[in-house]
Amino acid sequence: MIHISDLYYAYSSGKTALYDINLHIQKGEFAAIVGHNGSGKSTLARIIAGIEKPGRGSCVIKGIDTRDKSKFIELRKTAGIVFQNPENQIVFEKVRDDMAFALHNLGLAQNEIDERIESVMKMMKIERFTDSFELSMGQKQRAAIAGVIAMQCECIIFDEPTAMLDPKGKKDIHGIIVDLHKKGFTIVYVTNVIDEVLSADRIFILDSGCIKHEFKRDDLLENVERLKNFSLEMPLIMDIILRLKGRNIAVDTSARTVDELVDSLARVADNEAGGI
Ligand SMILES: Nc1ncnc2c1ncn2[C@@H]1O[C@H](COP(=O)(O)OP(=O)(O)OP(=O)(O)O)[C@@H](O)[C@H]1O
Ligand SMILES: [Mg+2]
Repeated sequence: MIHISDLYYAYSSGKTALYDINLHIQKGEFAAIVGHNGSGKSTLARIIAGIEKPGRGSCVIKGIDTRDKSKFIELRKTAGIVFQNPENQIVFEKVRDDMAFALHNLGLAQNEIDERIESVMKMMKIERFTDSFELSMGQKQRAAIAGVIAMQCECIIFDEPTAMLDPKGKKDIHGIIVDLHKKGFTIVYVTNVIDEVLSADRIFILDSGCIKHEFKRDDLLENVERLKNFSLEMPLIMDIILRLKGRNIAVDTSARTVDELVDSLARVADNEAGGI
């Protein structure tokens, strides 16, 4: 689905933001790109979405070279991006007009546009949002995410989509993203908090402009110690699992959520009680 080969990117200031990037993401995959501040995550996210063009090397999404201007509309239909700053996403005063504009640009009929907007506003619990510029930052972020989901692009790139949301809002959005993945969308999720992407199929560590490490969801435990080398925090759930293991407490190391961990501990406790 996404094929980035030997990519280099420098800003006009001369700053090289990305170098030697080779990244191949399959259709339907949930890929996470994790890195410290300034590591190049947003630059890479914009490259994948075709908003920035590679300086050297190539970025091909579903067979479309992002430099091919003749395929611009096709590219927009294929890859959508939720920007790190929701204010970069909002153009119109009314939330519905903002969403409708992008859908008109895709050439959809008015009734299809209306249906999509109503359904996604309900899903995102933003039916009551009206004036874009009167929303809080967290509300703007929800509206921006809704606008991109309404486009139903096969591949959606989320650049720190929950940074401005409260804990309940974060949980809601993560649930929605996991559902989109289950429905077959290809997800690229950019963050500096690895806890947010424990349900990703693969995690790529971006460090100072280069992908320095990559591992699969199931290999997380063997890789957590390395995270410190890239100025990243160990996920809280892994910290707890390692501490329990350190005390010789039997624990399911594949647990990725508190619920899964509690269930596994309860199972062990039940078995032990049954065996007495
Ligand atoms: N418009 C720009 N002009 C020049 N340099 C830029 C520009 N935007 C970003 N950079 C530089 O490119 C590098 C990568 O920036 P980028 O925004 O991609 O990082 P990031 O990983 O998304 O950071 P953050 O976690 O803070 O969002 C940084 O060193 C940054 O200073
Ligand atoms: Mg960024």
